[in-house]
Amino acid sequence: MIFGRVKPLDAILATAEKKSLARTLGPVQLTLLGVGAIIGTGIFVLTAEAAQKAGPAMMWSFVVAGLVCAVAALCYSEIASMVPVSGSAYTYTYAVMGELLAWMVGWALILEYAVAASAVSVGWSGYFVGLLQSWGISLPHALVVGPYAGGIVNLPALFIALLITGLLMIGTTESARVNAVLVAIKVTALTVFIALTLPVIKGAEFEPFMPNGWFGNGNGSGLGVIGAAASIFFAYVGFDAVSTAAEETKNPQRNVPIGLIGSLAICTIFYLLVAAGAIGTIGAQPVAGPAGEVLQPGTPMLASQCQALIDAGREPLVCSREALAHVLRSIGWERIGDLIGVAAFLALPSVILIMLFGQTRIFFVMARDGLLPEKLATIHPKWKTPHVVTMITGVAVAFFAAFLPVGQLADISNSGTLFAFFMVAIAVLILRRTQPDRHRPFRTPLVWVVAPLAILGTVGLYANLPFESKMVLPVWGGIGLLVYFAYGYRKSHVGRGLVEVHEADSDAPPQPVPPIE
Ligand code: ALA
Repeated sequence: MIFGRVKPLDAILATAEKKSLARTLGPVQLTLLGVGAIIGTGIFVLTAEAAQKAGPAMMWSFVVAGLVCAVAALCYSEIASMVPVSGSAYTYTYAVMGELLAWMVGWALILEYAVAASAVSVGWSGYFVGLLQSWGISLPHALVVGPYAGGIVNLPALFIALLITGLLMIGTTESARVNAVLVAIKVTALTVFIALTLPVIKGAEFEPFMPNGWFGNGNGSGLGVIGAAASIFFAYVGFDAVSTAAEETKNPQRNVPIGLIGSLAICTIFYLLVAAGAIGTIGAQPVAGPAGEVLQPGTPMLASQCQALIDAGREPLVCSREALAHVLRSIGWERIGDLIGVAAFLALPSVILIMLFGQTRIFFVMARDGLLPEKLATIHPKWKTPHVVTMITGVAVAFFAAFLPVGQLADISNSGTLFAFFMVAIAVLILRRTQPDRHRPFRTPLVWVVAPLAILGTVGLYANLPFESKMVLPVWGGIGLLVYFAYGYRKSHVGRGLVEVHEADSDAPPQPVPPIE
């Protein structure tokens, strides 16, 4: 029975012990790693989408999405400190719920990481185009947005996705120092934004506060506060990168939970202040259709309504592809708005790098378990990278970035992430029952409340994604099942009785952010 194909926890832990990766990350570096992976397109770009869905009440959306992530992070912390190995939710599920579900989680993580890389590429493109404009260079509209907004192809997004893929293929990694500098740039940009906007916010801009209510026109419409929370959840994605670094962490028992929850807390505070600053200065009311109807972000109708407003000299928050820079320019800080654009231009590519890297790492671990052809994970003799899988992934990422809107990509990525978090929460509960005596360096507080809340939260957010994005997960999952039964089921190492303990991973791809010496 396939649910019985469980990879013994002790074998996984033995693998970790044999690893040669040095344990050098402390709580501060770990938190920096988290903040580096978290802050990106979500806050810099999707603030506009959230406003279209929820109006000023998107403040609540940030809180709701942050709370779901917090309870999920508490579950992650318990399991990441118990099983401090790479592979994240995939590995945990393998140990707890068996191979089939682990495969499904790994398959969903591909959706999370690869599509997130596409979304961040599109977000980067918006800032890049705005920056060029501020220097007086205009690219043709048809070449900077996809068909959803009256264009043909988003060339800058295509370009950045391929560039990062190329860099990853030849083995570029980001040093911890570069990561620290980019985190500083992002945090400075957000701090400046907050400092310039908060003193001039006007209470009137917060009215009407909740134009689309909690659920838009009915649960599952993808609108309203909860619909916006399901999308803005993307702004928090990436904190699980901390758990994947557990193998390189000093005293992971203590430091992984600090890194996860610390980075999440810092980002939530920033996001709430930034959202308040944006709403309170230029307003955040949704743009309605010609008949006053509520419009979804990323639709041609919204794009044409926005164009009409822009032509009339009025660009509301929800129409901007570079929301934060636009807010500052609108309130008279032209040059500083441009600098925010420069910050996004410099820092977003590193989020793409981390996401693409995470994806290849998941592929690598799955191939090592025999669930994917090992050829896919072939390591290039000179570059020492899994170049084949990186290239295939990169081309797919670039393709989607070229043609789809950022919000829809973020929503699709969220569906995969929510599934993975859901499984981790279940895994924590099952392990408490089946292996109550195993050493737990970090115990989720009130686990019988927190884990069910994480389960409810992830299901609730998923249910409030727009219909098309919601449908991607089952379709992708169906394809995954076919692949599993056609290939992985027969080739699986565990299925063939090979529970190997890998020697010090000499063929593992390098780390995205190597530890500081
Ligand atoms: N949280 C990351 C971002 O907002 C994925 O770009």
